[in-house]
Amino acid sequence: MRILSGLSPTNSGVHLGNYFGAVQQWIGLQVQGDAYYFIATYHALTTVRDSDTLAGNAREIALDYLALGLDPTKAVLYRQEDVPEVCELSWVLSTLAPMGLLERCHAYKDKISRGLSADHGLFAYPVLMAADILIVRSTHVPVGQDQKQHVEVTRDLASKFNQTFGEVFPLPEPLIPQGACAKVPGIDGQKMSKSYGNEISIFGDEKSMRKSVMGIVTDSCGVDDPKDPEGNTIFELFKLVASEDRVAEMAEKFRASNQGYGYGHAKQELFEALLDHFGPARAKRESLAADPTTVEDILREGARKVRPVVEETMDAVRRAVGVYHAP
Ligand code: ADP
Ligand code: TRP
Repeated sequence: MRILSGLSPTNSGVHLGNYFGAVQQWIGLQVQGDAYYFIATYHALTTVRDSDTLAGNAREIALDYLALGLDPTKAVLYRQEDVPEVCELSWVLSTLAPMGLLERCHAYKDKISRGLSADHGLFAYPVLMAADILIVRSTHVPVGQDQKQHVEVTRDLASKFNQTFGEVFPLPEPLIPQGACAKVPGIDGQKMSKSYGNEISIFGDEKSMRKSVMGIVTDSCGVDDPKDPEGNTIFELFKLVASEDRVAEMAEKFRASNQGYGYGHAKQELFEALLDHFGPARAKRESLAADPTTVEDILREGARKVRPVVEETMDAVRRAVGVYHAP
């Protein structure tokens, strides 16, 4: 099994949705096969247009991954710009990508349906993502539900390439989390996402984490009213970070009437549970951040390890399509 996944450094900081929807799976998988995880800097260019911000975000996200348990002795961690050949492969794949297929991809479709104008980068984004996946010839791609469509596009392009030019790529399988991790709600109850500004970031300072938790939107039930825990954002998030016993206890307190247990109490419990759950990662991040050369070395080592894999793929691709000649 060869695993690949990536996260776009469009803003600094992994949030709860990213963690439970994607990064947690990555950490579990790193001991089950060859794992390649990368920071999708070229992808972020579709939204970040300031060089210091982009480079800074990429460093921050590397710290997040490492603090959350990505182990550089087990998985290869690299930056997308260390394999610029993805842009070359992306071009080759784009010559096989039907317009209709890309027009149906949700990032582009959503933007157009909101009346916004899209650029070619956003339109072609799924093809670059296919190149990321195929360039290491990965077989499994752990991503959140919203990225499944892109893995399907990747499979289409890989099989079209293989049929046209000969077998080079395996068809990768998406690995999608199920249950509560599939769609983590944000503080307004919609899917948590940077683009909705409703995220709870894992590594923010305590004060801003508390502020986000206290800002979770609820209905107007008072402290003595019975409340339905299911579908309640506080409860859904609590389920992700608290023990079964504590979850059952909170459900009971929600359902009871005249117990003086309101949403404010539940938010406080959630905040404390978040700090407990992510305490070790937060401490680890602080010590890693104090030593920037270690992170830089890890990324450099990741680039060194992924490059031969990429070169082998590109050699096969160039030969297959006929843009190869002996030196
Ligand atoms: P955002 O929506 O905040 O921009 P990304 O699109 O960068 O997040 O997502 C990075 C990864 O995290 C993807 O695999 C995505 O599916 C997953 N993910 C993001 N938000 C959530 C969420 N709320 N619930 C589950 N998974 C999520
Ligand atoms: N598009 C993914 C996201 O927004 C990030 C990404 C880029 C990715 N290339 C990838 C994920 C390749 C998995 C595999 O989250």
